[in-house]
Amino acid sequence: MTSITLPTLLKKVAMGEKWAMLTAYDAAFARLFDRAGIDMLLVGDSLGMVMQGYENTLPVTLEEVLYHTKCVARVVERAHVTADMPFMSYQASREQALLHAGRLIKEGKAQAVKMEGGSELAETVYAMVQAGIPVMGHIGLQPQQIHHLGGYKIQGKDLSDIEKLLSDAKILEEAGCFSIVLEGIMEETAKQITAALKIPTIGIASGPYCSGQVLVMHDLLGMHPDFRPHHAKIYIDLFKEVTKAIHEYMDDVKGGIQIENRRNTA
Ligand code: KIV
Repeated sequence: MTSITLPTLLKKVAMGEKWAMLTAYDAAFARLFDRAGIDMLLVGDSLGMVMQGYENTLPVTLEEVLYHTKCVARVVERAHVTADMPFMSYQASREQALLHAGRLIKEGKAQAVKMEGGSELAETVYAMVQAGIPVMGHIGLQPQQIHHLGGYKIQGKDLSDIEKLLSDAKILEEAGCFSIVLEGIMEETAKQITAALKIPTIGIASGPYCSGQVLVMHDLLGMHPDFRPHHAKIYIDLFKEVTKAIHEYMDDVKGGIQIENRRNTA
């Protein structure tokens, strides 16, 4: 099986093919998504919310992203794997950012890293790219800025907002990002940014005009009974399906019914 490298991804987008990206945090789902043919996997710091049960992504540590990246990269045979840089793993200094990104590549076996932020990251992105680390940008709704934002609100509504997003995207492109995630940005603004860039954009809650889309796996698979964000189509309601399966299993056990897969009996 051939693995999807960065040049392959860029070729795909140049041929007009959109990138389909999903988050993954463990070996079981990473294997499933990889065998299903997904282009790209993101070990997002969203793991803080969907895997660890935190309210936001801020408590996630580099060691935790590293652990989950190892779990994913260990079993993936073809999809491209990007690891997220968690809060305060890249903001304090360029040196620290480089070393932390290096660990995600060296030890985690990710093929790229992602960072939230705009023009303030230009020098860090440049240094990482020079060191051989492909970087994905992330602008618009930046969950690591939750205390500034006061909530997960759609970005790019007024003119100054739009200008700032456009300028951040351009600066990140010039600094060397190979793509940029546009999160929670007005559809028309995301379209405008995508048209203004040479590098691909990956949308989440930003409409259909980006060069690709990313979703948190738990949202697309309907794994949370109460949190069902508007931007994510639920392709299968796993919460319902798994509940049904568990009830059947419990009924079988309690009813003394055979639960073994007896393929080996004569
Ligand atoms: O952490 C994450 O899962 C992300 C995606 C939502 C883009 O950053």
